[in-house]
Amino acid sequence: MTKITIAIDGYSSCGKSTLAKALASKLGYAYVDSGAMYRCVTLYALQKGVIKDHSFQESDIVRLLDDIHLTFQFNPNTKSSETFLNGENVEKEIRQMIVSENVSKVSAIHDVRVKMIAIQRKLGKNKGIVMDGRDIGTNVFPNAELKLFMTADTDIRTQRRFDELSSKGQHISFNEVKSNLIYRDHEDTHRKENPLTQAHDAIVLDNSDLTREQQLEFVVKLITDLTLSFN
Ligand code: DC
Repeated sequence: MTKITIAIDGYSSCGKSTLAKALASKLGYAYVDSGAMYRCVTLYALQKGVIKDHSFQESDIVRLLDDIHLTFQFNPNTKSSETFLNGENVEKEIRQMIVSENVSKVSAIHDVRVKMIAIQRKLGKNKGIVMDGRDIGTNVFPNAELKLFMTADTDIRTQRRFDELSSKGQHISFNEVKSNLIYRDHEDTHRKENPLTQAHDAIVLDNSDLTREQQLEFVVKLITDLTLSFN
């Protein structure tokens, strides 16, 4: 069957990566979590002491970029792709709240975006990829055959993120999680470069009341119709 590019954009914690992973696994496609890349840059800047008390000089972060090498490896046990920063598996570290609190500002830096977007385009050059993020359908792969724009009610998104963090042993209140989501949505939609917007040809998927299975079914149907029209 013809391989296509699937771009999934949307607000924080609305289930993009869950759906993207399920789709990639069903189709035998690669899955790339572009947010994880911005999280790695943020983690590295925190480790190097360049971000202190939520503030930093852009030039200090840009200076670190050449020392950041990102790779992804499929873990057959978790059945998902894991992110490595300079050879170290940082899948857990990049989900910490301190990273979430700083990542939107780091991802707004021009040079950071240039480097990450170049990696993303390289990963997707042979198609057969599902990538999620904020600017995948609008900027990284504007010619993607299928673009989804995901959204869900803020309290539902907060509860999902809260449950995920709690299950990983991170103790943080519901309200803290909610404020971080609202803050990041605002930053991500209002930044100058490649803000989160719905691509004109994206299909909106509000999954507030949909199970994972229903979402997958909905998208698989879209893909089947699309690929049938190619073949
Ligand atoms: O998907 P996520 O929540 O892990 O993403 C973390 C941050 O990275 C998000 O707040 C904005 C930024 N990001 C981005 O600017 N562009 C992308 N394509 C993906 C994420």
